[in-house]
Parts: sequence; C-alpha cells; structure tokens
Amino acid sequence: MNTRETVKTVLVTGGAGYIGSHTCVELLQQGYEVVVVDNLVNAQQESLNRVAKIAGKAPVFLRVDLLDEVALDAVFSQYSIDAVIHFAALKAVGESVAKPLAYYHNNMTGTLNLFRVMAQHQVFQLVYSSSATVYGDSNPIPYREDMPLASTSPYGRSKVMAEQIMMDLSAADERWNIASLRYFNPVGAHPSGLIGEDPTGIPNNLMPYISQVAVGRREHLSIYGNDYMTADGTGVRDYIHVVDLANGHLQALQLLARKHQRFSAYNLGAGKGFSVLDVVKAFEKACGQSIPYKFEPRRAGDIGEFYADASKAATELDWRAARSLDSMCADTWNWQSKNPSGYGQV
Ligand SMILES: NC(=O)c1ccc[n+]([C@@H]2O[C@H](COP(=O)([O-])OP(=O)(O)OC[C@H]3O[C@@H](n4cnc5c(N)ncnc54)[C@H](O)[C@@H]3O)[C@@H](O)[C@H]2O)c1
Repeated sequence: MNTRETVKTVLVTGGAGYIGSHTCVELLQQGYEVVVVDNLVNAQQESLNRVAKIAGKAPVFLRVDLLDEVALDAVFSQYSIDAVIHFAALKAVGESVAKPLAYYHNNMTGTLNLFRVMAQHQVFQLVYSSSATVYGDSNPIPYREDMPLASTSPYGRSKVMAEQIMMDLSAADERWNIASLRYFNPVGAHPSGLIGEDPTGIPNNLMPYISQVAVGRREHLSIYGNDYMTADGTGVRDYIHVVDLANGHLQALQLLARKHQRFSAYNLGAGKGFSVLDVVKAFEKACGQSIPYKFEPRRAGDIGEFYADASKAATELDWRAARSLDSMCADTWNWQSKNPSGYGQV
C-alpha cells in the first residue's frame, strides 16, 4: 500500500478539462509528477501549456481515449502510476437525455476500462469525480453523504452507477482505497487568468453564460424560473471556486495515503447557497457593467434549491471552501476578459 511519501506520480484522466487543468496546477505545485490522459473531446491541449506556465513545470500529456483499453494499458506499463484522479467524462445533463447511449458508453465503459487496467497494474488509490446530481430530486437539503442516491438523467445515473461499482470493487478487494468527491457547482478560474472554463457551444452553466454575456458573445442571460420558494424566486445553488475544488483532490490523495478506507464519499461544496440573482449582482460588481437578463419558465427537472452539508469533508479531509462569491466572479471575469474566445484564440 502506498504511503504519503510513495505517492509521487498521479494519473489524471480528463486533465486537460476545466477542473482537471486546475487540479494539475495544484498537483505540480505540490511536487507530484502528473501524467494526463485526455482524448480532447471537450478540451484543448493549450490548457496544459497554460498549466505548465503557471506551475513552472509541465505535466506529461498523452492523447488517449479511455475507451481504448489497450492504449490505456500501455500508459500504465510506461509510467509508474501511484494514484489516479478520474475526471474524464461527458458532463452535459441535457445532452445525456438526448444521447443516453453515447453517455453510458463513454462514462461507464471508460470507467470500467480504467478500473480494470488499474487492478491489472496493482494501482488501487483512486479519487473519483462524482457530483451533487447523485442526490436526485427528493432528498431534503442540505445533502449529506449518507442519503440515498438517485438521479434524474443518464449523466447523473452514470455517476450513481460508478459509485455503486466502486463500492462493489472495494467490498470485493480490500486493496481498493477510494474517495468519491461529490462536487456541487464549480465556478471561477485560476487567479492568473491563464486557465478557466471554456465550454464549446452554448454554455450549460450559469457562470460561463454570464461571462459570455459580459464579454459581448451573447445578448442576454435567460433565467429559468423566478417563482421558486427561495428568497428572490430564482434557483439557489452551492457555488464552489474551482481552485478550492482542485485543492480538495489533493486533500483526498493525502487522506488515501494515510488512511485505508476502501470507499468513502465526500461533498465538496461551500455548505450555503446563492441565488441566480445573487450571482448576477456579484458578477456585475466584478466586471463593472450590467448583465441584461430575461426570466423564462422553469426548466423541466430543475430543483429550486440545493446545497451541501460540507461537514464530513471538513472533519475527514480537513478541507473547506475558502473563496468567496466575489472572488469566484472576479476570477471568472479575469479569465474571460483576457481570453474572450477561451483557448480558441490562441
Ligand atoms: N463542471 C461541473 O459543473 C461538474 C460538476 C460535478 C461533477 N463534474 C465532473 O467532474 C469531471 C470533470 O468535469 P469538467 O467540468 O472539468 O469537464 P470537462 O469536460 O472540462 O473535462 C472532462 C475532460 O474529460 C475528457 N474526456 C471525456 N471523455 C473522455 C474519454 N473517453 N477519454 C479521455 N478523455 C475524455 C474531455 O476531453 C475533457 O477534457 C467530470 O467527470 C464531470 O462529470 C463536473
């Protein structure tokens, strides 16, 4: 079993993506060797050039699809991997409803291939990207890790199934040591302005949408629902700065190195919610201009309000969300205004 000292090389699947690239920066800055595998289906390699610029050290990059088990096996043969952080997945909820087969194939087959290759190479330390979507739409708030899991989309179900698979693996073979991190709403960007969220097409999430309105790429923000049972009627979410989130992965790696726990899940959220209008106001302050918006009817499947009970991560991972909504908005604006077309203008 690995100890803190022996966890030197971390394989990061999906490391060129939004959360992966921010996590690579923190890993490299803490002295880990980083090997990224990504098929670039939703990322650009430029993100990793920027990671190298921030960290002063480059991760190894291998353009590998997790669906290609032979290529994945070769990565584990070539590099001495101590632990894996598994980000690679397709993540658009709406698209998953329209294309369930593509989502299940990518997210489940890719994950099964990874776990099989890990076991073959005796790598059992795993940090997994789960999501608050595993709590479904009928648990009371705040969400706690011991609540029953259910989800309302193929994307969400791929996360619930992956968690079930990891529980089964760790029950069958005690060598597995897994932390499943349930992210709430990751936003923001690295304070350098060099890396950030760069969605292809129309953004699915609030913050990149607002910032594209601010930069003139989109005319106005559509706010879906202003008749929820919340203070101002708009939806309330638990926003978490992506750098805080990235640091949660390092805390999880350290926990796995000092404590063998088989499988455990952790909420990574701030433990409090902000409404869509709170975020709009904070963003207007950050960018110094007003954000035009229009109210639209609620979207099917949306929940009025949810946020995390973040106490388990505080106690066991010694991790807390530290950055404020203002800094989430300021860092998003810094990234978006320096890179109005994301990585695309390079
Ligand atoms: N961003 C969020 O709001 C959020 C919330 C909860 C959970 N998550 C989860 O966190 C993880 C990372 O999310 P993100 O926001 O950084 O998304 P992202 O799309 O920016 O990153 C995912 C990366 O995985 C890569 N990828 C996808 N399928 C692959 C495959 N078969 N083989 C190799 N690479 C592949 C993509 O090219 C991309 O670089 C995902 O698992 C996502 O489901 C994200």
